[in-house]
Amino acid sequence: MAAIIDGKAFAAGLIAHISGAVSDLAAKHRLQPGLAVVLVGEDPASRVYVRNKGRQTKAAGMNSFEHRLPEETGEAALLALVRRLNQDPAVHGILVQLPLPAHIDPSKVINAISADKDVDGFHIENVGRLSVGEDSPVPCTPAGCLMLLRHQLGDLSGSRAVVVGRSNIVGKPVAMLLLRENCTVTVAHSRTQGLAAVCREADILVAAVGVPEMVKGDWIKPGATVIDVGINRIENRDGQTRLVGDVDFEAAMKVAGAVTPVPGGVGPMTIACLLRNTLMAACRRHRVAIPPGL
Ligand code: GUN
Repeated sequence: MAAIIDGKAFAAGLIAHISGAVSDLAAKHRLQPGLAVVLVGEDPASRVYVRNKGRQTKAAGMNSFEHRLPEETGEAALLALVRRLNQDPAVHGILVQLPLPAHIDPSKVINAISADKDVDGFHIENVGRLSVGEDSPVPCTPAGCLMLLRHQLGDLSGSRAVVVGRSNIVGKPVAMLLLRENCTVTVAHSRTQGLAAVCREADILVAAVGVPEMVKGDWIKPGATVIDVGINRIENRDGQTRLVGDVDFEAAMKVAGAVTPVPGGVGPMTIACLLRNTLMAACRRHRVAIPPGL
């Protein structure tokens, strides 16, 4: 039986550490980090994520500024809001929830965010920094995956890693981070030939495709560490819905060395890393040393 990697517990520990650092900042520097989250439209999953982000930001002692705009908001109005938040000294981090409605160009909006407030790490300048190995805000879900892997495995140097999925939000930045850890990295995707055999080569398998339970037990090398980034809502035969990942969890548990569950694996790490990026942005802005252990 594989070990279950408890992302929920790990994230709770990280958030407790961040909350302590936030209290210190208030006491020693009269500084309260602030995160602005912008949601355009009514996408139900996005609404849940944004509500959770707001709650946890406040629970960690930070300021949370939520901006909910109607679906029909024009690109110019959204860009104007982003520019206003760029100028606001109480806002240290800005996150525009994706996906945006089809009439808005997401890259225009992301690149309008001031690079030092880009707590998602999606700004083209920060993507470039990550790819050349310079210090930059690291995208939250990939940062969470890496923390869990290092916690589970220690040094990743020399491991064979396969990332299934090539999105800008997860697949590509995870690959960059694993490369930085001296893994030998393959990025596979929907057009990869012989995908199962490619996955079976992996000591570290990261699934980020958005297809429910796509990765089967016989795609996994015995003893491998499996990180499941997928969050898919599926309907059971009895009409009830449940959350599953991109990996067949039951099958993976019989083959792998360690697996992240869904829910309770990577998901909670994303918000923890967002709070971490916000805290770090506030420290950089005010030239305060980044608290240790982050
Ligand atoms: N939508 C899904 N994941 C993310 C994320 O990490 N950041 C933003 N801004 N939108 C998302």
